[in-house]
Amino acid sequence: MTDIHSQKILILDFGSQYTQLIARRIREAGVYCEIHPCNRGLDFIRSFNPAGIVFSGGPSSVYDKGAPLVPKEVFGLGVPALGICYGMQLTARVLKGRVERSKKREYGGADLLINDRKDLFHGIKAKRVRVWMSHGDRVEALPPGFTTIARSKNSDICAIRDAKRRIYGVQFHPEVVHTPKGGKMLENFVFRVCGCKPLWTMRSFIDSAIADIREKVGSDCVVCGISGGVDSAVAALLVHKAIGDNLTCIFVDNGVLRRGEAVKVEATLRKNFRMNIRRVDASKRFLGKLKGVSDPEKKRKIIGNEFVRVFEEEAGKIKNVRFLAQGTLYPDVIESVSFKGPSATIKSHHNVGGLLKKMRLKLVEPLRELFKDEVRSLGREMGMSAEIIDRHPFPGPGLAIRIIGTVTAERCDMLRAADGIVLDEIKKAGLYKKMWQAFAVLLPIKTVGVMGDERTYENTVALRAVESVDGMTADWVRLPYGVMERISTRIINEVRGVNRVVYDISSKPPSTIEWE
Ligand code: XMP
Repeated sequence: MTDIHSQKILILDFGSQYTQLIARRIREAGVYCEIHPCNRGLDFIRSFNPAGIVFSGGPSSVYDKGAPLVPKEVFGLGVPALGICYGMQLTARVLKGRVERSKKREYGGADLLINDRKDLFHGIKAKRVRVWMSHGDRVEALPPGFTTIARSKNSDICAIRDAKRRIYGVQFHPEVVHTPKGGKMLENFVFRVCGCKPLWTMRSFIDSAIADIREKVGSDCVVCGISGGVDSAVAALLVHKAIGDNLTCIFVDNGVLRRGEAVKVEATLRKNFRMNIRRVDASKRFLGKLKGVSDPEKKRKIIGNEFVRVFEEEAGKIKNVRFLAQGTLYPDVIESVSFKGPSATIKSHHNVGGLLKKMRLKLVEPLRELFKDEVRSLGREMGMSAEIIDRHPFPGPGLAIRIIGTVTAERCDMLRAADGIVLDEIKKAGLYKKMWQAFAVLLPIKTVGVMGDERTYENTVALRAVESVDGMTADWVRLPYGVMERISTRIINEVRGVNRVVYDISSKPPSTIEWE
């Protein structure tokens, strides 16, 4: 079996918002890489044994007091290095070039004029190549040993190389989509300069992960909470491949799930993959706890705590359980974002810390190294249907944070029906895969309507559809009028208690995707 981790690129993070993109581009090329904070030090870098190092961009100026640099010995390890934007400036600074502080930021597209296509720019033939700039400082004088391999109209030094030591620097960002040939440049770096091979594929990951899980778990039993989402389903499937029936999945129906959402996942895992699944109908319990609560954060806490309680009760019934499997992904793990402290994206929804302690369980997190797109392709590779893999994200607190005000069984049913219609129509129109999320929100507002000869006084549903890459920012979808019309007509005709549908045209920021 090939060791998929045998060649790895180390990405040192200097705080750029694009660092994860560098990692994703390199992984897409089939090479394993990890992101670490820029201040990990020489010993760490040596022991990591990288095939190449990338210094990310970052918000600092190399002349700022306390600006993060790297020890100059890093350049003497015989390991190829690529500095991106701030990474290039720090390379120039540490190796005794001159970096000019500039007051004006260069931001946006630029044309790159390449004068050397031997390695980093190999196979990029166009005379002018579009690249994305976002920098303040710039390199004014090359460090000894370096030559320029590309320039632009604004700058004579856009890309540099020390051929002997295999050190490169680029002023622009090859990792963003606005640099169309950027992926090719990063491929050139990892294959031509670092000599890596494309070993990192989800097919080879499966074998390696299965071996790891078996070694860790041995003949002990594992429990896994299934939520209906992609991550937990893929994690469970992988653990199941490794240890078969020693895995039991627990699926808690909290009463605030979408129509058919988790049920479908459960059915697939049980029928197609013959996994052990215990379904607990705890909807009454959850709705009881939610009674009279309208504060969104309280709703989140109640659902999170109750989940842990139900899960613990169920897991307690299984013999020999020593491990809890979770679908934690790499972005939750990266202790990076160097100066902002630990990643702010860590989910607190299912707070399993207490659970682990009380039940004396250890964690198995087989997706810890993966980005979301890798999890999806891993799921596909293991034969999971597109229906599960491509589903929109659904928040842990479920419909409870889409029912504005207090949550009752009746209002849940109303929203479930409306939401089901939204998804039906979006799918029928072929739009589902083109957006991040589409859903209905039930508002605590009654308005007057007229049905037949009768005056009505009923509820309002808001329709939300957003496009987004990662959920951090989002824009509302310009839905075709025909689709809006069908959704509205069907909701008002088919869902009892609703007589009005409105469309949410707010983007994030300043609004959020969810209403609560
Ligand atoms: P917002 O509303 O913050 O949502 O723009 C961003 C993304 O996160 C999801 N979301 C949650 N997911 N527990 C979750 O597991 C939560 O409490 C929660 N709140 C929001 C939301 O659906 C969107 O995809």
